[in-house]
Amino acid sequence: MVKYVVEKNGKLMPSNEMKKIAWVSDEKIYKDAEKNPVKFWERLAEEGISWEKKWKKPYVEKLPYFEWFKGGKLNFCFNCLDRHLKNNGNKVALIWVPEPTGEKTIKLTYKQLHEKVCRFANVLKKNGVRKGDAVSIYLPMIPEALIVMLACTRIGAIHSVVFSAFSADALKSRIEDCKAKILVTSDGYYRRGEEEELLGKAKEAAEKTTIKKIIVVRRLGKKLDKELDFEEEIKKAKADCDCETVNSEDIMFILYTSGTTGKPKGIVHDTGGYAVQAYWTCKWNFNLHDDDIMWCTADVGWITGHSYAFYGPLLNGCTTLVYEGSPDFPDYGRWWKIIQDNKVTVFYTAPTAIRMFMKAGDEWPRKYNLGSLKILGTVGEPINEEAWMWYFNRIGSKRCPVIDTWWQTETGGTLINSLPGIGPFVPTVSGRSFPGTRHIVVDDKGKEVKNGETGNLVQLSPFAPGMLHGVYKNHEKYVETYWRFKTKYDTSDGAYIKNGLIRMTGRTDDVMKVAGHRLATAELEDAISKDNSVAECAVVPIADEIKGQVPVAFVVLKSGEGSEEIEKEIKKFVDKKIGPTARPAKIYFVEDLPKTRSGKIMRRILKALLNNEDPGNLMTLINPEIVEKIKEIIQKSSEKA
Ligand code: PRX
Repeated sequence: MVKYVVEKNGKLMPSNEMKKIAWVSDEKIYKDAEKNPVKFWERLAEEGISWEKKWKKPYVEKLPYFEWFKGGKLNFCFNCLDRHLKNNGNKVALIWVPEPTGEKTIKLTYKQLHEKVCRFANVLKKNGVRKGDAVSIYLPMIPEALIVMLACTRIGAIHSVVFSAFSADALKSRIEDCKAKILVTSDGYYRRGEEEELLGKAKEAAEKTTIKKIIVVRRLGKKLDKELDFEEEIKKAKADCDCETVNSEDIMFILYTSGTTGKPKGIVHDTGGYAVQAYWTCKWNFNLHDDDIMWCTADVGWITGHSYAFYGPLLNGCTTLVYEGSPDFPDYGRWWKIIQDNKVTVFYTAPTAIRMFMKAGDEWPRKYNLGSLKILGTVGEPINEEAWMWYFNRIGSKRCPVIDTWWQTETGGTLINSLPGIGPFVPTVSGRSFPGTRHIVVDDKGKEVKNGETGNLVQLSPFAPGMLHGVYKNHEKYVETYWRFKTKYDTSDGAYIKNGLIRMTGRTDDVMKVAGHRLATAELEDAISKDNSVAECAVVPIADEIKGQVPVAFVVLKSGEGSEEIEKEIKKFVDKKIGPTARPAKIYFVEDLPKTRSGKIMRRILKALLNNEDPGNLMTLINPEIVEKIKEIIQKSSEKA
């Protein structure tokens, strides 16, 4: 079996075989790109993306905003589908593996996918969707999610995908923010062998909003009321639909993400710049060639699902694999069987999943032939050394590089990682900035720190083409969240740089990563405090062996004492307000929260108490006596457990 990595001077490096097949294998790429990053990205834009009209200005910066390929015109869907039809029309674009083991895998060629997308684009048009209108998509991991998204980009409509495990309330607030006209959803999907209902939540969310029509994919074959049936509608629609030309800087999609307030922010992405970064990062990070089959396990409700489960592989004319269900259904061998059966070559997943499989045991991957794999990727949260090594040894059989990609919803595409043909592959270290981009670490005043010192990771101008174009209709939020250093983009991540390689150390704000999902403590606190019984609350993350972090809530009730029933009720309430991904792992009922004289809740102290650490100086507190009481409550609860 081909080995793609070798050990050189104690470091894992690309083998000669990898260097031979790698798109980039010469270090020089970094230096060349750095000399003139704008020229570099211009060259990539020309080579990778089909434009209807070339841009007039490659990069215009008026901070805090900047635009790429200004004056350029293109269609995103054309780049994902039409341009591949002539030479690769019969090639499989999408392999879809349903969760129920008895159901057949579905394969759609570029031609078939193109036809479905055209038909659905006509359905959207028939229902009044025009260029610049927003469409909300609340779909599980089924082919229709891809079809609907591409159909939006075909007619220049803006898509806003909402994670299907989010609640009706979460969907509603996102619909209201972008004023979507149409909601596309399904009657449900399969999860761990069970039918999960979706349409009820979708209907509840759409009530009294701008939504004019709900279009439903009948995944479970349920009867519809007055909603439109996806299949029926596309059957009636014409099979051809012209691509609408859009400007490079026109909005292609909005994706909502947790920030440091209770309300999620609509991260705005444009068309041209996003396309360029998605195309090239996917091609170079995963060394995608014509015959590759890429499986990115992320849900389309997250940016990783957008850029690497769907768009990146299609822009590159490759085959992407999508799986509907849970990793452990019907057993812990499901993913490895999917890789074996479909000869997946590139596998991209999150540390949480890797840790879960590590715990489940080596016997599961051992049952399957994973010899088709060439490259392994990880994303979404810091990966610990043990999980990295397990992934490398047990899944990649010490043959495949592990590419630890750092990026964010805001960056649209990956930004920091080692490239497979260049290396090195170091556990827990992401690597270097993608060619043509630059990151440094600064202190709280914005001054660059010394090598090896931890600080704030920032990106320098010219900012990468896939970067956000603001927060939807919220200039203040955009400035306040990302531009505290004025000319440097603040990632809100901590990091240090050693020997030119960047290692992430976690978020610097009150955002946690729960099983790779991004969750602001403020969003959760906002939800919990809306429960009728709650007077006040504070949420802090604690470390979790598998999920990385989980939220723990401290709740002050309006009256009475806490009980298991109230804990259950609050958790249920969180499910309703946000979704089960945000459910606190534990709720402590306390009399009061540690506060400063100005009323600020000291979460730092709560964190220390949970971790059995010294809470430090309590002098600034207005209620220092509460600290000891909370400590006792935590201790009692852990004794009980
Ligand atoms: O804290 C970083 C962490 O995930 C955050 C972005 O979350 P989200 O917008 O949900 O996007 C996740 C997928 C791109 C970052 O600010 N993060 C992401 N990748 C890594 C990471 N932390 C450490 N290592 C990574 N590879």
